Amino acid sequence: MDHATRTIETYDQIATDYHVIATPEHRAWLEDSMREFYSRLPGKSVLVAGCGEGRDSRYLQTLGTHATSFDLSEGMLSLARASDPVGKYLHLDLRHTQKIEQTFDGIWACACLYHLTKPEFRICLQDFHRRLNPGGVLFLNLKLGAGEHFIEIPRDGYPGGAAAKEKLSGSRFYAFYTRNELSEYFVNYSVEMERRDLLKEGDGAMEFWLRKCLKGTS
Ligand SMILES: C[S@@+](CC[C@H](N)C(=O)[O-])C[C@H]1O[C@@H](n2cnc3c(N)ncnc32)[C@H](O)[C@@H]1O
Repeated sequence: MDHATRTIETYDQIATDYHVIATPEHRAWLEDSMREFYSRLPGKSVLVAGCGEGRDSRYLQTLGTHATSFDLSEGMLSLARASDPVGKYLHLDLRHTQKIEQTFDGIWACACLYHLTKPEFRICLQDFHRRLNPGGVLFLNLKLGAGEHFIEIPRDGYPGGAAAKEKLSGSRFYAFYTRNELSEYFVNYSVEMERRDLLKEGDGAMEFWLRKCLKGTS
């Protein structure tokens, strides 16, 4: 079983409890990040990658975007579709985004790209570049640290605290990056904004708002 299959099996198992991470503090932080993303978009079409149970897709639509969302966990997708029956939710792997023919003004990739290996992450950023319209914006967040490994129990500082540790355990694959290392991945994007995110304990995490540059101008 590869890292993605194992990770998605876990998401299928924890899907109905995943809401425990949606604390008021965590949602306020992410909604601020989404408003920042929305303010930078050159248009209204948005691709929501690794959408989970669709909370961000729904919020982005309230801001006025037209969202297409995807995830590889059927458990997560069924929750997303139940909460937003007219929304567009696709069953798709982050490693196969070249199957999407449409292009978008923005891609919102929250809390999902760290489930890819580092070579997969590099390819995914290249595919996202092709999926973005000129001047399009990519939001992503990643965990700071080193290496790649499975985590069985959410770490200290994970949103949802004790409830997350109790209900969201199970094998999930993570890749960790240093800030310096990341610059080398952002080829053909310009970093418009970045900030440390809410996770203050452990290694923490970082958010990035990247703008698509024409090839060779990043
Ligand atoms: C930490 S959850 C975040 C969900 C949502 N973005 C949020 O912020 O609430 C990670 C999501 O990424 C999805 N995911 C993990 N690996 C994936 C892959 N290879 N392709 C598509 N989705 C994937 C999982 O199924 C899960 O829904």
